[in-house]
Amino acid sequence: MTSRNLQTCRHDPDVLKPRPGLPRVRDLIVDTAQFFKRYDPIEPCFASDAPQPEKKHRQFPTSPTGMVKESMIGRAVRRGLKIDMPRVVARTRNTVTEADRPLPAALIADLRTDHAGESGAVMIYRGILVATRDAGVRHFAQAHLATEARHLAQIEALLAPPHRSRLLPLWRIAGWLTGALPAWAGPRAVYATIEAVETFVDRHYAEQIVSIDRHDPGHSAPPLQALRALLQACRGDEIAHRDEAAALFALSGKPPTLALRAWVWSVGAGSRVAVKICRRV
Ligand SMILES: [Fe+2]
Ligand SMILES: [Fe+2]
Repeated sequence: MTSRNLQTCRHDPDVLKPRPGLPRVRDLIVDTAQFFKRYDPIEPCFASDAPQPEKKHRQFPTSPTGMVKESMIGRAVRRGLKIDMPRVVARTRNTVTEADRPLPAALIADLRTDHAGESGAVMIYRGILVATRDAGVRHFAQAHLATEARHLAQIEALLAPPHRSRLLPLWRIAGWLTGALPAWAGPRAVYATIEAVETFVDRHYAEQIVSIDRHDPGHSAPPLQALRALLQACRGDEIAHRDEAAALFALSGKPPTLALRAWVWSVGAGSRVAVKICRRV
């Protein structure tokens, strides 16, 4: 209100404006997609182990309204929510922070493969959507695309640009072809391909979680545990994608042809090679 953050019930409004910094949709309504894209990766930082209060969380205990003024955020988070604000801000800007530096090099390399993989996954579904008019496959691809785009945004927020794969354009093209080629062949080929890709991704994330546990056996390093939680969530989605694709393939009632089995094998082998390269480049 009048460019100040106030509770409307406690002050006389002069001018009502939509929240600044976000695209306006209509009247006072803003598009919050950008906000949540940045909020998702830092959401674990806001999780509190404290017991739920009876009425509401007071972000700044001495404030009569419970609201946080801009200048008080640092103090409020230190007292109440224990948020490392510079790190949160840095993360939303995709920069490497002091807190991120202790991440072991092996985990950074793993994250690079995740980032490349999720970039490829987004392109797989884009390729499918370009190549098919089948309503069932399109519905399947659109739903999966939304999930993969979220995974990509979450991992992108954790991995600073200098740590990303220099071969990203190649992974994107490979992903697009991995979706478009089977989509031209038909729905069965799409579902078999997705089952193969997600089987690989499930194992990849599972190995990475084991690796995190080796680096942090006590589950006491917040950056590693936040990363672990994110990977667990992504892995759950990938398993659901794999099972859905397998179930849709099974509906055809026919086993895969020799050509389809050869394609599926090449998808798995290609993914393994891509991960090995991506750890280095
Ligand atoms: Fe994914
Ligand atoms: Fe997936």
